[in-house]
Amino acid sequence: MADTRHFLDLSAMTAEDLRTIIDDAKVRKVATKAGTAEKPLSGKMLAMIFEKPSTRTRVSFDVGMRQLGGETLFLSGTEMQLGRAETIGDTAKVLSRYVDAIMIRTTDHSRLMEMAEHATVPVINALTDLTHPCQIMADIMTYEEHRGPIKGRTIAWTGDGNNVLHSFVEGAARFGYRMNMAVPLGSEPEDKILNWARNNGGDIMLCHDADRAVAGADAVVTDCWVSMNQEHRARGHNIFQPFQVNGALMKQADKDALFMHCLPAHRGEEVTDEVIDGPQSVVFDEAENRLHAQKSIIAWCMGLI
Ligand code: CP
Ligand code: NVA
Repeated sequence: MADTRHFLDLSAMTAEDLRTIIDDAKVRKVATKAGTAEKPLSGKMLAMIFEKPSTRTRVSFDVGMRQLGGETLFLSGTEMQLGRAETIGDTAKVLSRYVDAIMIRTTDHSRLMEMAEHATVPVINALTDLTHPCQIMADIMTYEEHRGPIKGRTIAWTGDGNNVLHSFVEGAARFGYRMNMAVPLGSEPEDKILNWARNNGGDIMLCHDADRAVAGADAVVTDCWVSMNQEHRARGHNIFQPFQVNGALMKQADKDALFMHCLPAHRGEEVTDEVIDGPQSVVFDEAENRLHAQKSIIAWCMGLI
C-alpha cells in the first residue's frame, strides 16, 4: 500500500520526519520516566520476526510496544514457514491480516524490501546485512542528550565497513553531521551507500588511517570486526587491530568526544575495557535509547506523530 508508513532506511525517510521522531523520543523518554506516558496503541499488535540473534532489539521493541499500550508476538524465522522457504511476500500478506505492524531482522536487504512491498501494514527494519537504521536513531538521540545538536559535528568510525556504518553514512546526509571513516583495505562500506550520501549532501570522508579519521572528532564509533552472517568476509583480526579504539586513539579525538558502540562489544578486540568502561563511553545510554527511539518510530509508523 503506497501510503503505508514503513521505517526501512534513513535514506528512505525525509530529514523532517527523522527529526520529528528524535524530538518525540526525547519527550516520550521524560514522560516514561515520570510515569505520565500515554498508551495510545491499546489493542494493536506488533509482530517481531528475527532471522538472526538479538538482545537489545528484541527486548527494546517488546518493552517499547507494551509501554505504548500494545502487544507483541516474537517470531523466530527458523520456527516459521519462512524457514521452510515460504516466500517473504506471502508471509507479509498473511501477517498483514493479523497484526498492525511488522518488525523484521533479517539477512539480505532484499528480504526487508520484499516484506515492505507486500505488507499492507508498516514494516520496520530491525537490522539487515546492509543497514541498521533504528540503531542510528538511538545513537543520534544519545549524542544530542550529551552534547546538543549533532548538525555540524564530526562522527568518526573506525573498523569494519558494515551495516551500522551504512546507516551512519545515510544519517550524515539526513542530519547534517560530518562522517569520517577509517576501515581496513577491502572492508570498505558499499559504494551505493557512499554515492547516495554524497548525492544527497552528505559530508563524508573515507580513509584507511584510524588516527586521521578520529582527529578532532566529536564522537568515536566502532562495532564488531565480524558481523552476523558476514563470517565469509572475516579476514583475521590482525587486519583490524590498527582500527581498535583504545586510550591512545581516543586521545586523537576532541577532548569532549564521546565513545559509542551499538553493542554487543567484543572487549579487547574493537575496543579496550579502558575506553568502553571509561568516562567518555555512552554505550549503555545508546542501549537504553533504543527503547525510546523505537517507540517514536512505531508511533510515526502508526500515524501518531
Ligand atoms: N545493537 C543491537 O542491535 O543489539 P542486538 O543485536 O542485541 O539487538
Ligand atoms: N554489525 C553488527 C551489529 C550487531 C547489532 C552485526 O550485524 O552483527
